[in-house]
Amino acid sequence: MNILAFESSCDETAVAVVRDGRTVLSDAIASQADMHALYGGVVPEIASRKHIEAIASLTDQAMELAGIGRGEVDAVAVTYAPGLIGAVLVGVNFAKAASYGLGVPLVPVHHVRGHIAANYITHPDLEPPFVCLCVSGGTTAIVDVRSYTEMEVLGATRDDAAGECFDKVARVLGIGYPGGAPMDALAQGGDDTRYELPRAHVEGAPLDMSFSGLKTAVLNLAHNAAQKGEVLDLPGLAASFAAAVSDTLVPRAMEAARSRGYGKVAVAGGVAANTRIRSDLERACRASGDRLFLPALSLCGDNGAMIGCQGYYEYCAGRRAGMDLNAYANRDIGKG
Ligand code: KG4
Repeated sequence: MNILAFESSCDETAVAVVRDGRTVLSDAIASQADMHALYGGVVPEIASRKHIEAIASLTDQAMELAGIGRGEVDAVAVTYAPGLIGAVLVGVNFAKAASYGLGVPLVPVHHVRGHIAANYITHPDLEPPFVCLCVSGGTTAIVDVRSYTEMEVLGATRDDAAGECFDKVARVLGIGYPGGAPMDALAQGGDDTRYELPRAHVEGAPLDMSFSGLKTAVLNLAHNAAQKGEVLDLPGLAASFAAAVSDTLVPRAMEAARSRGYGKVAVAGGVAANTRIRSDLERACRASGDRLFLPALSLCGDNGAMIGCQGYYEYCAGRRAGMDLNAYANRDIGKG
């Protein structure tokens, strides 16, 4: 079955056609990152407008690349939560029109479930259950993926998401936006013990995380250095920062994996592209004997293929939406 999928939760407009959940026929993406870089972060109103400008021609492009006619679309899937509300609404409304016009079912997809599904595209043999570390610009959570559509958050950040923290630190250090990838590149030449940075623990909630103290520590370091006229060792700082983020994420993900005993660990979201996190997970899984599933770098960030993939499994589980489908800024992944 062919699913036409839409993603517009942040600053990427994406439309894909996915066959039977795992075969990507097309994956068209229009990134707005250059526009938001002028402001040092995503401007929600601009994001919504850019989605409106891009979504129709991107849909034509995705259909053409897939090589299928309109009559061959069997269902429409769309990210309906979580995300920037105005941005999500653009995709939801376009998808409603597509579903109505084509006369096919509409399937709502939770954005983070989509990120998890990127692993099914990369690894055709991966099936639930497994534990997934979900790390993106808006989400940081350890998820028990019991089945394709039954999930439970085992631990999550109490404040900033890891990606948000990468972006804010990069902005203060003048490294650019979005900051995760350039911080990662900079860290490759750095000494990860150069700066002592905090690793927070949440009392009584061992799988929960906190990144705001780490972010503040780096910001204070940068401001103090500027006041004293000192030059920071940027590669050393980027490497020390990546180590602190990874030291917060990886042991918790491994503890969750141990407690569930599935023998499978996956990672998902934009921050899943991070070199340090990927290599620390590889080392930890080698030691524990768990099998590690890393999404292809091209599927870590927002894309439509992951929504088409998860949309297929939601469809198979009987999930449907009507023309009254709403968009939500926040939504529990367990509720889907
Ligand atoms: O998944 P995503 O594209 O959007 C959301 O759903 O939030 O994630 C974007 C986030 C940004 O914060 C970006 O800086 C971060 O992923 N990111 C990275 C890397 N590449 C992207 N963070 C750390 N290391 C990277 N290599």
